[in-house]
Amino acid sequence: MTDVFVARAEEFDGDARLAVEHGPIQILVFRHAGRFYAFENRCAHSGGPVAEGTVLGRVEAVLGPDMTCLGERFSTDELHLVCPWHGWEYDLETGEYAGDRSVRINRFDVVERDGAVYVRA
Ligand code: FES
Repeated sequence: MTDVFVARAEEFDGDARLAVEHGPIQILVFRHAGRFYAFENRCAHSGGPVAEGTVLGRVEAVLGPDMTCLGERFSTDELHLVCPWHGWEYDLETGEYAGDRSVRINRFDVVERDGAVYVRA
């Protein structure tokens, strides 16, 4: 494992997603709700730029006491990274595809040290 420098922490303002090349792969790093995330920018479906996708809560049903569906809402417990090409959704914490947990995209740990941000690759 190597810590690969990405950028100074202050460069991650707003919705900034910063890329770093690591050998043949591109890793995108971004901050969401105060935490850093890093993913290889290659979707497991057809190779789309998944790490450029939107972050949304998993859609979940709201059930009544008799188990009838009262509607749907976005989960605040499970967030998904949504690929912009065809909408495959990946668990933000694990990189697992929500439709089949045996499929995943590469997720990397992010280390912040002395004001700099690194991915552990
Ligand atoms: S390439 Fe990502 S959903 Fe198709």
